[in-house]
Amino acid sequence: MTNLLPIASGKGGVGKSSYAVNLATVLAQKGKNVILADFDFGGANLHTLLGLKNNRAGLGNFIYRQTEDFSSLLQETQIPGLRFIAGDCMYPGTANMDNSSKRRIIKALNAQEADYVILDLGAGTTYNTLDFFLLTYNSLLVTTPELTSILNAYSFLKAAVFRFFMRQFKAKSPEREFINGYLKSAETGSDADFVELVKKICKNFPETGKSAKTELLKYRPQVIFNQGQNSADLEMAKRLRSLIQKKLGINMDFVGFLPKDEQVSFSIALRKPLALANPGSGFVRGIETSAERIMIHSYRYNELNGVEADDISKDKDLKILDKEFTAALAEK
Ligand SMILES: Nc1ncnc2c1ncn2[C@@H]1O[C@H](COP(=O)(O)OP(=O)(O)OP(=O)(O)O)[C@@H](O)[C@H]1O
Ligand SMILES: [Mg+2]
Repeated sequence: MTNLLPIASGKGGVGKSSYAVNLATVLAQKGKNVILADFDFGGANLHTLLGLKNNRAGLGNFIYRQTEDFSSLLQETQIPGLRFIAGDCMYPGTANMDNSSKRRIIKALNAQEADYVILDLGAGTTYNTLDFFLLTYNSLLVTTPELTSILNAYSFLKAAVFRFFMRQFKAKSPEREFINGYLKSAETGSDADFVELVKKICKNFPETGKSAKTELLKYRPQVIFNQGQNSADLEMAKRLRSLIQKKLGINMDFVGFLPKDEQVSFSIALRKPLALANPGSGFVRGIETSAERIMIHSYRYNELNGVEADDISKDKDLKILDKEFTAALAEK
């Protein structure tokens, strides 16, 4: 069964596409059958990072029903085992696609024969991005240590859990009405309190509330910390974790800590993934270790994940990332 790997970020320009293209390359190099798809509606440019020309049908053609055959969008790349699906470069308006288009895409994604389908999403919290992000319980979020990036990552996850929770209840159900009423009544200027909402729903709708809460407990996004400069940056990672634990009542795992490395922009100019241009660089080594972590996990659509979540007590995952990061920098 295919693993779906949606990659999102709260703030733009943090390195989603750079991560996506290099993760896809590394997974393909490890013998996996990988599809990388450009899901940045309105801002598609991933073909450039792979050195491909923008002359093939992409998601825009599928959304506008010029083709019903999703597989016809697949393009070979210079990397064996890695195929590419272009975005919507030539089509305005796909960022507002309707639910039936989304359902068609999701069905087609699940039907692909591949080990991994990686979705490079656009930044921000449009419903489309959130819906594709919520395809799995453990989708990937990229952030940098910068405060604005951390705060936007939190805002993104907040929008995601509200939508995740809402979708646990049927359309037009009293539970959804309650949630909408709660959001409307939130005081202007104050943070709508998600933990309190969950408590209230469980109190007012004990049966459906309890199963929604159980579902919520499975929700555990994975975070990639990009453009790190030193171990002290991980303090910001801790802040993000404590913020989402406290305010959203969910947990998260850090699966990668990648150094700031000017070779990343050089490789974009070269139109070649850094994993091909310079596999020994610190950035690519960070990608490799995150790929190893990703490979022991499963990212299934609408299914309980088989692998137990990693132990994050005492920030164990961050300590391991720190060690790897310092070792990679030392070898530079
Ligand atoms: N680890 C890194 N070190 C140095 N520069 C980086 C790193 N990661 C990304 N960059 C640079 O940051 C810029 C944005 O990267 P990228 O396009 O991958 O981000 P993005 O999140 O996909 O952006 P957008 O939100 O516009 O889609 C690029 O110029 C890239 O070279
Ligand atoms: Mg991008």
